[in-house]
Amino acid sequence: MPLEHAQGQVLLVGAGPGPADLMTVRALRAVEGAGALLYDALVSDEVLALAPRACLRIQTGKRSGRASMKQETINRLMLRLARRGLTVVRLKGGDPSVFGRVGEERAFLEAHGVPVEVVPGVTAASAAAAQFGFPLTHRGAARRVTFATARVENGAVVDEGWAANADPTTTLALYMARDACAAAAARLIAEGRDPTTPAVAVENAGSRSARIIKGDLSDLPARLAAAACEGPVVVLIGEAVGLAHAVAAGSGEARRRA
Ligand SMILES: C[S@@+](CC[C@H](N)C(=O)[O-])C[C@H]1O[C@@H](n2cnc3c(N)ncnc32)[C@H](O)[C@@H]1O
Repeated sequence: MPLEHAQGQVLLVGAGPGPADLMTVRALRAVEGAGALLYDALVSDEVLALAPRACLRIQTGKRSGRASMKQETINRLMLRLARRGLTVVRLKGGDPSVFGRVGEERAFLEAHGVPVEVVPGVTAASAAAAQFGFPLTHRGAARRVTFATARVENGAVVDEGWAANADPTTTLALYMARDACAAAAARLIAEGRDPTTPAVAVENAGSRSARIIKGDLSDLPARLAAAACEGPVVVLIGEAVGLAHAVAAGSGEARRRA
C-alpha cells in the first residue's frame, strides 16, 4: 500500500543499473511503499513494475524522444506532493549521489522543511566491473578510482584538473562519455597517460543486453564509435580494466565457454 504521512517526505532512491535484483533491499522497500514516483529515463521497466498500482507515476527524464522536465519543475513537484502528505520516491538510475543531482534536490527540499532520505544504489561503473570481471582498484596497479564526466567544447575537454586523471594508478570511470570519449582520451594522452593503457566501454552495464567494447586509450574512441551504441555507456580506463573478460559473467555465452 502507498504510504501517507501527515507531513510527507521525499526519498531520493538509487534504482541501480537496471535489473531489479541489483537494487538494495531498502530501495525495493521504498519503491513498494511509494505514494508518488518521479523517475528518470534510465530506470528500467522491471524496477518501475515494483511500485504499487495506485501510486502516482511521473516520468521526469527523456524517453522515447520526449523532453526532460526542468530541474526547477521537478523540485517544485516533489515539494507539492510531499506537502500533500505523500511519500515521494524520486527514483534515479544507479546511485543518486553519482551525477544524480542529489545534492541540489536535497538542499531544495530541506530548505522547505521536507524530510529527505537518500537510498544509495549500484553505480554503472561498479555494475560494469562486476559483470565483466575486472576490479576498480587492484593492489599494485590501481590505488584510486575517479568518477568523472568530461565537458567538451569544440572537440576538446574544457575541465580543469585532468592531470590527476592521467595518474597511472587511477582507474577513471567516465560517465556520459559516449560522445566525449575521443576528446577525453586525447586530453589524457596530452596530460601524459600512456596511450596503451587498457580502456573499455560498457553499454547497458548490469543487464542481460550488456556489451563490452575493449581497447586501449588510443583506439577505444574509434572502436566505440564503430559499435554505434544506443544504450547508456560508461567508459573505464586504467591498468585494472585490463583484467576484463570478453564475455559478461553469468551470461549464456560465459556459461557455454566455462
Ligand atoms: C546522469 S548519469 C547517471 C549515473 C547514475 N547515477 C549511476 O550511478 O550510474 C548517466 C550516465 O551514467 C552512465 N550509466 C548509467 N547507467 C548505465 C548502465 N546501465 N550502463 C552503462 N552506463 C550507464 C552513462 O554514462 C550515462 O550516460
